[in-house]
Amino acid sequence: MDRKVLLVTGGAGFIGSNFVLEGVRRGHKVVNLDALTYAGNLDNLASIEGNPAHLFVRGSILDGALISSLLTAHQPDAIVHFAAESHVDRSIVGPAAFVQTNVTGTFTLLDAALQHWRSLPVIKRDTFRFHHVSTDEVYGSLGPHEPAFHEETPYRPNSPYAASKAASDHLVRAYFHTYGLPVVTTNCSNNYGPYQFPEKLIPLMIHNAVEGKALPVYGDGQNVRDWLYVADHCDAIFTVIERGRLGETYNIGGLNEQKNLDVVNILCTILDELCAQGAPHSRLITFVKDRPGHDRRYAIDCTKLQSELGWVPKESFRSGIRKTVEWYLENAKWVEKVVSGQYRDWIGENYGSRT
Ligand code: NAD
Ligand code: TYD
Repeated sequence: MDRKVLLVTGGAGFIGSNFVLEGVRRGHKVVNLDALTYAGNLDNLASIEGNPAHLFVRGSILDGALISSLLTAHQPDAIVHFAAESHVDRSIVGPAAFVQTNVTGTFTLLDAALQHWRSLPVIKRDTFRFHHVSTDEVYGSLGPHEPAFHEETPYRPNSPYAASKAASDHLVRAYFHTYGLPVVTTNCSNNYGPYQFPEKLIPLMIHNAVEGKALPVYGDGQNVRDWLYVADHCDAIFTVIERGRLGETYNIGGLNEQKNLDVVNILCTILDELCAQGAPHSRLITFVKDRPGHDRRYAIDCTKLQSELGWVPKESFRSGIRKTVEWYLENAKWVEKVVSGQYRDWIGENYGSRT
């Protein structure tokens, strides 16, 4: 992809920061708009601090005037929209923030993008992109033998998080069909890798295991997720920005379905090898009260992305999960910083009533 100016929202979060780092590495200029909620962390971007190819702006996607001024000042070739409330358990405890950020925030961003796009000269209007980053959770839950989600699978979101993302996907679609805004949406499965906040399954389990704390598996641990290494997700987004067809959606998946309990056991085995003093870490596995409305299985059919745009995940789960454990062990300071204060309040709130 030629050098581009990208306006990235949520670029201090897990996937957004991986995307920003990769974008700068690929030679793009990135304007990074992030509100720095509990999930946003400038430490993720420490390696590009002072790099003129990255401009960080603290602000919200709910602030239409700010977005308009950034669009006018920086004339981006594409908006890449990651900013969201992203954790299902938090959406069960407090859904309002999810509607506010994911629905109203996406609407505000779309509207500012549309006004800006209309003001562009025709040649710029043709190449402009609004890339919406979404999730496979909008499709609901699968039975054990049902075929994987494809782009035509009806939306059946089950959690407030999934419902808010589904609503945002519909708004993006409507801005294409009604106004012609050049949008593309990607729906991706569960990501893992560096800089993931330790409220999500994989980093939470690594952190707890290292600390010798219980590994809280919800329900019977047989829920299935498809796992994709975060760098492969970022690569897919770059591919779609460059060559995806306007108004289309593309599913992104890791071709890697795993039961939660198996994932936790794999993590324990790697940790037994790397931190022998705590072995066997599997003794810490504790079954706790299930998540309300817990989706049983997600699986993604990403044939469209593979056959149309030639994207394939590069990282195997075996190598990706090992790299991830190693990253968390090598970045104990990063973890230590994020698991203070508010984090402890969340752990008390979410797990206190489960045991
Ligand atoms: P995250 O929670 O780690 O990061 C979200 C970021 O958005 C944070 O930096 C936060 O500060 C920022 N943000 C929140 N509200 C904002 C606002 N009003 N204005 C500006 N910034 C705001 O999330 P993530 O896991 O990196 O997910 C990024 C995107 O990818 C989300 O849209 C999510 O739905 C989607 N997604 C995530 C996964 C996954 O497995 N994590 C899978 C598929 C899709
Ligand atoms: P999570 O990482 O929260 O992602 P999502 O809910 O978006 O798929 O959870 C992944 C799976 O792991 C999900 O089935 C819930 C389960 N889980 C646990 O069993 N224990 C935990 O402490 C957490 C956070 C998740």
